[in-house]
Amino acid sequence: MTETSLVDSGTGYGRKTPSYEPRLAEVGPGTPMGEALRRYWQPIAASAALTSEAPHRTRVLGEDLIVFRDGQGRPGVVFERCAHRGSSLYYGRVEDDGIRCCYHGWKFDVQGHCLEQACEPGGGLRRDAARQPWYPVEERYGLVFVYMGPPERKPTLPRYDCLEPQEEGERYLAEWPVPGMTVTGLVQDCNWLQIYENAIDPAHISWLHSQHSGYQFVGTGTTGFPENFFDPATASDRITYKRTDFGAAYNVRFTGDDSAERGWGADLHLPNVLVLPDFVNVTADAKADMLLWVVPCDDTHNRSFFSIRTSDPERLDRFFLGVKQNGKDPWELSEEERRQYPGDGEAQLSQGPVTLHSEETLATTDRGVVMLRRLLKTMVDDVQAGRDPRGVSLTEVPPRHTESGMFTVAAADKTPVPSAGA
Ligand code: FES
Ligand SMILES: [Fe+2]
Repeated sequence: MTETSLVDSGTGYGRKTPSYEPRLAEVGPGTPMGEALRRYWQPIAASAALTSEAPHRTRVLGEDLIVFRDGQGRPGVVFERCAHRGSSLYYGRVEDDGIRCCYHGWKFDVQGHCLEQACEPGGGLRRDAARQPWYPVEERYGLVFVYMGPPERKPTLPRYDCLEPQEEGERYLAEWPVPGMTVTGLVQDCNWLQIYENAIDPAHISWLHSQHSGYQFVGTGTTGFPENFFDPATASDRITYKRTDFGAAYNVRFTGDDSAERGWGADLHLPNVLVLPDFVNVTADAKADMLLWVVPCDDTHNRSFFSIRTSDPERLDRFFLGVKQNGKDPWELSEEERRQYPGDGEAQLSQGPVTLHSEETLATTDRGVVMLRRLLKTMVDDVQAGRDPRGVSLTEVPPRHTESGMFTVAAADKTPVPSAGA
C-alpha cells in the first residue's frame, strides 16, 4: 500500500554514521578476531610453486611476510622487514641454507637465526643477537601452512577425510592458474568474511547465478544441476542449515533429472575453511574432493587457497572455470557485461572494502550467515576467555569428517544419506 503520510519516511537523511563490527572484521595483531584467527594454521603458499628461485612477498592477518624455500627444500616464513635496518627481504637472495638481505648481506635461516653478517668482521661475531622474526610452517595437501599464534598453543595441522587417503594416480592440485597468484594465492580486494559468508549463503545461487545473470554454472541441465535446483520460489523451503563439530553446514534439496530426491551440501570448518564437491560434473552420491581457505591479508584484502585431491586432469578447469558470466570468464568481460551479468565477484566486492554491518537488513535466507557469525563470535569469546577455540587440537587426531557432497535422499526417512564408502 502506498504511504499516505504527508511527510516522507525512510529517506537517507540524518542516518547514523555506518559502521562495521570490528570483532568480525578486524584481523590485525592484538584485535579479538585477529588473535582468534592466529590460533589456526593458515595456508600461505602452494608447495609446488614455491621453489628456491626467489622469495615471495605476502601479507597475512595484517603482517607483511616473506615466504621462501631454501636450497635444501625447507619452506620458511619470516618478517619482510630485515632485522638489521629494515630493508625488504623481497629483494633478498635465496641461498642453500636461508635468505640473504640485499642491503648488507645478513643471512637468516628458516627460523630466523642469523647465519652470517657479510660486512661485519668475521661474518658477525655477535650475529646470535640478531633474530629475524619467523613463524613455523608445515606442508600438507600441496600447500604450505603457517602458524602465527602463541607458540605454546600451537595446534596440530588438521587433516580432512575428503583429502585423504590419496588413491592410486591421485595428486593434490593447489595452484591458481593465474599469473602472479600461483604461489601466494588469489587476491580479492575486500574483507575476508564477505567471501567466506558467501559459502553459507545458498540462496544467492538461486538468484544471482541463475535468475539474475542467467545460468552461470557450467553443465547446468546437462552434467550439472537440473534447473529446479535453482528455483528461487522454493529455495528457502529446500535449504537446511545446521551446526557441526567443526562449524556449520547447509543442504539444498532438489529433484534430480532422474526424479530421485537429492541433497547437495557444503560445510564450513572454522575459522575459514570451505568443503566443496565438484559443482560442474554433478554426479549422484559423490563426496567432496576439495577444500578452500579464505585467508585475510588485512581488513580489506584476502587470498583464497584450495587443494583438490584428484586424478582427473580436467578437475581443476571445472573448479576454476566452472562458473561463467555471459558464457565468459571474468577477464574476458567488458564493464557493461559485468554490469548485466554480475557474478560472485561483483556481488561481494561491491559490498565495499569492509561491509557495513549496521546497514544490513537480515532475513530468513541469511540464517546460515547469522549462524556463521555467531560461531565466529563464540570463537573470539573462547580465545579471549583463555580457551582453545572450536576445532583446535594440540594433539594428533584422525582426519576430520567432512559432510559436503551430493547425496540421494533415503525414501524412508527423507534424510540425506551418505554415499557408499562416504
Ligand atoms: S638492512 Fe638487511 S642487512 Fe642491513
Ligand atoms: Fe556464488
